[in-house]
Amino acid sequence: MPDNTERLLLLISERRIRARIATLARRIDADYRGRTLCLVVVLKGAFVFAADLARQLATPSTTDFISASSYGTGTRSSGKVALGGTDALQLDGKHVLVVEDILDTGRTGAAILDVLHRHGPASLALCTLLRKPAAGALDLAADYVGFDIGHDFGVGYGMDYAERHRNLRAIYRLIPGGPAG
Ligand code: PRP
Repeated sequence: MPDNTERLLLLISERRIRARIATLARRIDADYRGRTLCLVVVLKGAFVFAADLARQLATPSTTDFISASSYGTGTRSSGKVALGGTDALQLDGKHVLVVEDILDTGRTGAAILDVLHRHGPASLALCTLLRKPAAGALDLAADYVGFDIGHDFGVGYGMDYAERHRNLRAIYRLIPGGPAG
């Protein structure tokens, strides 16, 4: 149910997102020159970022999708990571780049890298648009990071709050509303 008291404050504009993705794409192109990339996009949140990143890359790529879910409908991680679609992946000998929208606690990214390692890729790297402080402090190899942000709950550009706001063009800080009264 939409909450009329919640507020959205601009965190990262469309223009900054576009510029940062172009920079990331140039770095990825330089690192994978002469190779083909296998993009593994983590649904749902990364779908917008992945679509823009893939179109900025000059490196030839294939695209697969997996699902990961840990949040339920609140603004805090439940602590459990459920992965879907990884069994069908064929990554043996491939150069794999996982595309995530956000590393928050870092649990999802770590779980994905752990599972994908077992598929025997030639290389495995992680690209995330956003990273929060807890994940930044972990020993988790995030090879490409768009923006390090604070503890804000970000929505828009693929990211949701209770499945809403994924379609917004920029990234906003969500200030949840108080109890209805
Ligand atoms: C978000 C995000 C990451 C994960 C990061 O997914 O897309 O996959 O949480 O959190 P962590 O670093 O604390 O593990 P979410 O569970 O919200 O699902 P969604 O992408 O389908 O919205």
